[in-house]
This record gives sequence, C-alpha cells and structure tokens, in this order.
Amino acid sequence: MSQNPRIAIVGAGNVGGNLGIRFARSGYSLRFGVREGSNADDVIAKCEGKAEAASIPEAAKWADVIFLSVPGNAAVEATRSMGDISGKVLVDCNNPLKWEDGPVHTPPPEGSITAALAKAFPTARLVKGFNTFGAEFHLDPTLGNTSIDVQLAGESAEAKALVSSIATRAGFNPIDVGLLRNAAHLESLAILWIHLALRAGHGRQIGFKLLKRE
Ligand SMILES: NC(=O)c1ccc[n+]([C@@H]2O[C@H](COP(=O)([O-])OP(=O)(O)OC[C@H]3O[C@@H](n4cnc5c(N)ncnc54)[C@H](OP(=O)(O)O)[C@@H]3O)[C@@H](O)[C@H]2O)c1
Repeated sequence: MSQNPRIAIVGAGNVGGNLGIRFARSGYSLRFGVREGSNADDVIAKCEGKAEAASIPEAAKWADVIFLSVPGNAAVEATRSMGDISGKVLVDCNNPLKWEDGPVHTPPPEGSITAALAKAFPTARLVKGFNTFGAEFHLDPTLGNTSIDVQLAGESAEAKALVSSIATRAGFNPIDVGLLRNAAHLESLAILWIHLALRAGHGRQIGFKLLKRE
C-alpha cells in the first residue's frame, strides 16, 4: 500500500465533511461519494483542491479506504450502494442510537453496526473508529496539549495499521483496541460521550484519553 492511500468518504455531513477537510489539509486526496440529488460542494470548497465529488460506487471503486459516516440505521444500505468493495478497508464511524430524554443505545441484532456490516459484506475489511467523539474533533483533533484518541477495532491488523497511519498523519492519536467484537464497546462509549456532552452538562469539547501512570 502506498504512503498515499486513496480515501473516499460516504456521508459528507458533520462527521464525514469535517473528516474530509481534515484529511485534505493533511495532504490526502479524497472523493466524497454522494447520492443523486445531494452534493458536497460546501465541504469540497474547504478541501484546498484535494477533494472532488463522485457517485457512491465511483468513489468506492476508486478508493483504497472508505470512511462511512451516515445515520446508523442507513449504514448497511449505504454500503450496499457502493457496489463491490471486496478487499477495501471500510471504516465504520457510525453509532446506533435513538433519543429518549438522552441517548439510548440501539444496537442491531449482530451486536454492533460494524458486526452487521461485516456480516453483510464479508469480503470488505472492516475497521471501527472515529465514532467516540463529537464532529468538532474530526475537524480539529487537538485536546488540551495532546490529541484525541481514535480507538480502532477490527479483524485485520493490516487494515488497522493503514487507518492508524492515516489518523496519525491527520493529527489523531490512534489506539488499536482489538478485534471487531470490541466495536460494540466503542459504540457504547460513544453513547456515554453523548450523554456526558449533551445531558450531563460537560459540553462537546470533551474526549476520552487512555492515560498511563509512568
Ligand atoms: N455528529 C457527531 O458529532 C458524531 C460523532 C461521532 C459519530 N457520529 C456518527 O456518525 C454518523 C454520521 O453522523 P453525522 O452527524 O455526520 O450525520 P449527518 O450530518 O446527518 O450526515 C449524514 C450524511 O449521510 C448521508 N446519507 C444519509 N443516508 C444515506 C444513505 N442511505 N446513503 C448514502 N448517504 C447517506 C447524508 O447525505 P444526503 O445529503 O444524501 O442526505 C449526509 O451527508 C452517524 O452514524 C453518527 O452516529 C456522529
């Protein structure tokens, strides 16, 4: 894999848009996969000439790594619209939740969105990540005098290493948290982040860090 993997982003909203801007500013070329009738013009205008729009299957076909950032209940449908993604790294940034006086975790029967994607698309290489903090951090990962942690879960060490290298170059602090079964914990962690940020009064400028006693 080259030093410059080609990145596609499907879902150019709060998360995907900000992540795309961050990646472009970090030197990556990327394509936003957009649905017919939608566009990512505002985001692309902030990507310093490094991003363009394509249809979802075109963007997915072109890319080595595809970031998926759509409503949790649309993750499988959006991935299906990519066409054949055999061998591609699919980074699942999504969370399953509903709002009932606060965030409520609503995982699919497979246990996590990532597990549902892995079941539906067994030839893709799934990595869970970039889901445990608010979208402000996708644009700017600084947290105090350090960087926010991006926990990465998945079966393929090679895929995690690739996503990790992208995250590092973009200013995040990646941490390998093990196999795909741990994606469920990352989705739970995200629900906790939303509770702390939006219900418990801590605000959105918070993030989880793994600290070590020296
Ligand atoms: N917001 C946060 O702070 C945050 C943080 C961490 C993780 N997350 C998770 O990240 C995901 C995205 O959140 P967001 O806040 O970025 O959402 P958002 O702003 O609503 O953006 C969602 C994007 O998904 C696209 N989309 C919706 N349905 C689609 C489909 N069936 N196929 C293809 N594209 C589709 C939308 O495009 P159109 O213009 O075509 O509708 C839009 O660009 C969610 O799963 C969320 O739980 C959010």
